[in-house]
Amino acid sequence: MSTFDKVDYDSLIPNNVDLSSDRSLQRALEKWHPNFIKWWMDMGPNGFQNSEVYLRTAVGVDPEGWAKFGYVKMPDYRWGILLSPKEEGRKIPFGQHKGEPAWQEVPGEYRAMLRRLIVIQGDTEPASVEQQRFLGNTAPSLYDMRNLFQVNVEEGRHLWAMVYLLHKYFGRDGREEAELLLQRRSGNVDKPRILGAFNEDTPDWLSFYMFTTFTDRDGKMQLEALANSGFDPLARTTRFMLTEEGHHMFVGRTGVERVIQKTCEIMKQHNISDPFAINDVRKYGVVDLPTLQKKMNFHVSVTLDLFGSDISTNAANAFNSSIKGRFHETMIDDDHQLLNDTYPILKNVNNKFILSDEPAINAVNARLCDDYINDCVQVVATWNKVIKSFGINFTLDLPHKAFHRKIGDYSELSVTPKGDIIEASTWNAQQHDWLPDNEDLEYILSLMTNVTEPGKFASWVAPPKAGINGQPGDYEYVKLAA
Ligand SMILES: [Fe+2]
Ligand SMILES: [Fe+2]
Repeated sequence: MSTFDKVDYDSLIPNNVDLSSDRSLQRALEKWHPNFIKWWMDMGPNGFQNSEVYLRTAVGVDPEGWAKFGYVKMPDYRWGILLSPKEEGRKIPFGQHKGEPAWQEVPGEYRAMLRRLIVIQGDTEPASVEQQRFLGNTAPSLYDMRNLFQVNVEEGRHLWAMVYLLHKYFGRDGREEAELLLQRRSGNVDKPRILGAFNEDTPDWLSFYMFTTFTDRDGKMQLEALANSGFDPLARTTRFMLTEEGHHMFVGRTGVERVIQKTCEIMKQHNISDPFAINDVRKYGVVDLPTLQKKMNFHVSVTLDLFGSDISTNAANAFNSSIKGRFHETMIDDDHQLLNDTYPILKNVNNKFILSDEPAINAVNARLCDDYINDCVQVVATWNKVIKSFGINFTLDLPHKAFHRKIGDYSELSVTPKGDIIEASTWNAQQHDWLPDNEDLEYILSLMTNVTEPGKFASWVAPPKAGINGQPGDYEYVKLAA
């Protein structure tokens, strides 16, 4: 145990980084604090800032018992700076600096690259809060509303995590970047968030569940890739963020699962055996399975764009510089420098995809993306189990990696969800079979009603299997302000 493990909750900014011993940093962060609160009031959950929410707050970084639960008004949430414990004598596990002691300060030659990576990660955190800010008004239950707000406050904390690194290690540039993180706005034409997926709307709860399943999972992969960074403060920060990220993905995965559960229950109850009899299913106020497939196609493809091109010099440089590794870097059985290794990349040859070996160092992005897809496949398998348990003849399939891409090598191609390369005109004519059209989106929106009676749920979603922190089914997770 190091001396940094204890979280100081007495100061304005809770932390386990001994903030009080660095007065100028503490002052700089205390100056940023009111701007953050102002951003939270302007752009955080709309209409619920006075409600008492049953939230977890991190009280330590020990994997056992790191959080406590209790009612908090969100603007009073104790956002803090929490790093995983320092590993004494930690060595850099990959890249050209493999084997050297992990850096406690930013190496001059990597300053710009590190700052950019931290800013991009930091920008996604407030962006998702902005995307989700109106969802509280249509929450399908108090349980879901609480989960939304939990995710939102923790994304706020992730912003704090990145801002701490910028302030502590990047001087004036870092402070400027920290200000800009509060100024960009999701979806704003003049000052958009940096990455595309974080400028999309999250207009309904199915979008929220899909976002937390698939887009927060991209977050997990990015954090995992940074969790072994040679820059030790970044590695320790992202490790603790991953602890919180698990719940976000849980909210997504179980959310979609509950939608499926409810749809299947209704189909069974009304003897609807054809999943494509959409109007028969919709009559009962639930989401038909083909529309779920289309929503998934959309969210997966938009999220895959976040990985960038399969072949990437930036990613190669970040790996070679020992800044950003691969998923589970330390568990991979190779030289961790990729001096002679190859990696198979999907390539279009005469309108057919084939795998072609490329130098592995150039394919670090492709590998992270493939690891992400493997993770998603497992999630979709758990959803299909539910459908199967009702004896309904339908499976959800993850769309092909090259389907509906806007960024990277596949963006020029017209690819079906199954991975066939077709003519652009055919693709355009058929896209409403693969992606939600306006009618689908309007139908989903029409289901969104606010259910605020404890223990009650909207028509289109089943109750969860268990409550938060062992609470009973009718627990009042949010005490709405009068
Ligand atoms: Fe986050
Ligand atoms: Fe998250």
